[in-house]
Amino acid sequence: MDNKSVKKRILQLRKEINFHNKLYYEESRNIISDYEYDIKIQELIKLENLYPELKSSSSPSIKVGGKITKDFKTFMHVAPMLSLSNTYSNQDLDDFDKRVKKNLNIDKVEYLCELKYDGVALSINYENGLFKRALTRGDGTKGDDISNNAITIKTLPIKLSESVNLEVRGEAFISKKNFKILNDQKKINNEELFSNPRNTASGSLKMQDSTIVSERRINCYLYSLVSGNENVVNQEESLNYLKNLGFNVPTTFRKCKNIIEVKEYVDYWENKREDLDVETDGIVIKVNNLEYQKILGNTSKSPRWAIAYKYKSESKKTKVLDIKFQVGRTGAITPVAILDPVELGGSIVKRASLHNSNEIERLDVRINDSVYIEKGGEIIPKVTKVITSERILDTGKFKFIDICPACNNKLKTSKDQAIHYCPNYKNCPPQVSGRIEHFISKNAMNIEFLGPETVKGLINNGLIKDVSDLYLLKYEDIIDLKFNIEGEDKVRSLKNKSCKNILGSIEKSKENEFSNVLFGLGIRYVGKTTAKKLAENFKSIDTIISASYDEIIEVDEIGDKIAESLIKYFKDSENLLIIEKLKSSGLNFTQEENIKLKSDKLKNKIFVISGKFKNYSREQIQKEIEENGGKVSKSLSSKTSYLLAGENMGPKKKIKAKELNIILLDLKNFFELI
Ligand code: IVH
Repeated sequence: MDNKSVKKRILQLRKEINFHNKLYYEESRNIISDYEYDIKIQELIKLENLYPELKSSSSPSIKVGGKITKDFKTFMHVAPMLSLSNTYSNQDLDDFDKRVKKNLNIDKVEYLCELKYDGVALSINYENGLFKRALTRGDGTKGDDISNNAITIKTLPIKLSESVNLEVRGEAFISKKNFKILNDQKKINNEELFSNPRNTASGSLKMQDSTIVSERRINCYLYSLVSGNENVVNQEESLNYLKNLGFNVPTTFRKCKNIIEVKEYVDYWENKREDLDVETDGIVIKVNNLEYQKILGNTSKSPRWAIAYKYKSESKKTKVLDIKFQVGRTGAITPVAILDPVELGGSIVKRASLHNSNEIERLDVRINDSVYIEKGGEIIPKVTKVITSERILDTGKFKFIDICPACNNKLKTSKDQAIHYCPNYKNCPPQVSGRIEHFISKNAMNIEFLGPETVKGLINNGLIKDVSDLYLLKYEDIIDLKFNIEGEDKVRSLKNKSCKNILGSIEKSKENEFSNVLFGLGIRYVGKTTAKKLAENFKSIDTIISASYDEIIEVDEIGDKIAESLIKYFKDSENLLIIEKLKSSGLNFTQEENIKLKSDKLKNKIFVISGKFKNYSREQIQKEIEENGGKVSKSLSSKTSYLLAGENMGPKKKIKAKELNIILLDLKNFFELI
C-alpha cells in the first residue's frame, strides 16, 4: 500500500471505530460483534505502528487503549427491577386512582409524587453501612456489576451514617450543566460530541476504565429502599431515612392527599422541570403506604402501586427525503422515513419509523413532505404530522410496495391489512440471517464472537441454513471463511484465533438457560418475558409443544396472539426438526428446578390453578405450592388433589372437578392449608 492509501485506510478505520464506540458507549448498542470490532482496532494499531507519522492523539486506538472488553460479572437482583407503566392524561390518572382504591377496598389513598429522572437505574447494596456492589438493571432479573464505576459517583456514599445492611435503588445521571461542560471540552478537542446526557451516563457506566468514568461527572438520585429497614412505614419515610443515611435524595417529592393534589403536582412541574439541572421526562406517582404497596403487588412487568405520568415530548419539523423498506426477521416490512437530519431532544435524528401501511395512509405522508417528528420515549422517533400546506407538487398518495425488496416475492398482508410481510420465511435472506442474528444476540444465546457480518458469511458459504447448523460447525469448515464488512470492498477471511473464539463462544452458549433458548428461537410475539413465563410454567419444550391453546392462555398475561403463534410455530415440522437438532447438540430445553423447601405440608399433593387472583400472580402461587412440597399440573385428572379456583374460572373446569371429586379451594383456604 502506498502512503496515500494507508492514510485513507487509517482515516476510514478511525471513522468506523468511532461510529461503533459512539453506538456502544452512548446508546449501549452494538451492530458488529466484539470480534469484528477487534479486527478493526488491530488493523488500525498495526497500520499506526508501521506508519508512526500518521499516529494521532485523537485516534480511537489510543483513546480506548486498543481494547474494549465488555465483560462485567452479572448478579441476580434481590428483587426484580421492574419498569413503570406509563400514562399521559388526567383520565389515566383517575383510572389508576380508581384501580388502586378498588383493589385495596378503601375510598381514600395517599400518594407520594416524585420526579422521574431520566438516567440509568442502579441497584446498590450496602453491608454494615459499607458500599458492597452496584448493579445495572440488566434484564430486570440479573444485572451487570458496575461497582468500580459506581464508586466514582461522588454523591453515592461509600460509608453510610449507620452500620446497616441495605438494598437501595436510584437513578444515575449527568446533570445538564455537567453535560455541557463535557461537550464543551469535546468541542475544544475537536472531537465528536456526546448525543445526550442519558446515553452518555449509560454508556459511561459500562466502560471498563473507571478513570474515564470518574471524569464524566455522574450523579445519582436515590428513590427507593428495597430492603433494610423494617421500621419505615411509607415511601416518604423511606426517602427521609435514605437522606439521613447520607444519600442524595432530591427535595422535590411531595405527599398528596388525593389524586387532585397529584394532578396539581403534575401541572406544577410540567414547565418548571425545565429549570432543573437534571433531565426529567415525567412524574412517578407511588402509593405512599408500604403495606398497601405490598397488598397491591406487581405484575410481571410493573408494580400496581405506582405509575409514571409522562409529559408530552418535544417535536421538531423536518423533511422526508425518501421512504425505504426494511425486512425484519419475521418477514414484517417496516417503512422508514429517511429525514433531513434534525436535532431532537439532544440527539441528531436521521430516520423515523412509519410503522406500517395504515400509518402511511393515516398520515398521508409522501416523499418531499415537511413533517413533524417526535420521540415517544423510544430511541427511534416517529412522524406525528404531515404539513400538507407546504406540499408543492401533487405526486399522489405514496404507494406501499407489493414485492419484497430483498427477495422479490409477492408480499402478503395480515388479517387486518395493517402489516405487509414477505411469506418467503425459509429463503428470504434478511429473514434467514435475521433469525440467526436474533438467536446469537445478547439477550438470547449471547454468542459474542459471532456478528451479523460473519453470520452472513457463513450463510453465503452454505455452512449454515438455520440456528441448529451453528452447533455443527467445525474448525476446518470456518478457517479462511470469506466474509464482507459493510461499506468495505475488501473481502475478509477468518483466521485461527477468531475461529477458536467463535467455536468457543458457540460451545459456551450451550450453558444458557431454557428461557434464553426459547427466546432465541424467535417465535413471533415471544419476547424475553414471555419466554421466561413459558419456561417457568411448562418447565420443558415438550410440554409447551404438546400444550393446547387453552392450556397456554391459562398462563398469566399470555393471550390468544401468543398462543396462536406458538401453536403455529410448533405445527411446522421444519421448526420441530431444528429443535430436535438443537437438543442433540446439548442445548437446554428444560427448566432447572431450583426450589428451596419451606415445608413439606403439600407433599404428594397435586394442584391445578385456574382463573385470576387478587394481589397474587399465578407464578407466585405456583412457587408457594412448590416451596411447600406440592406440585402443579396444567389439567385436571383423577390424580389432582386440589383445584385452586380464582376469579373467572371457566364453568367447565368446575363441573369436571366435581365429577372427579376434587376439592375446590379459594386463596384463603389455600393459605390456611400451608
Ligand atoms: S420507582 C418500577 N422512582 O423509571 C420500579 N423510578 O420505568 C419503581 N425512575 O427503572 C421505580 N425516576 O430507573 C422510581 N422517582 C423515581 C424514578 C424512577 C426515574 C426510573 C427508574 C425505573 C424507571 C421505571
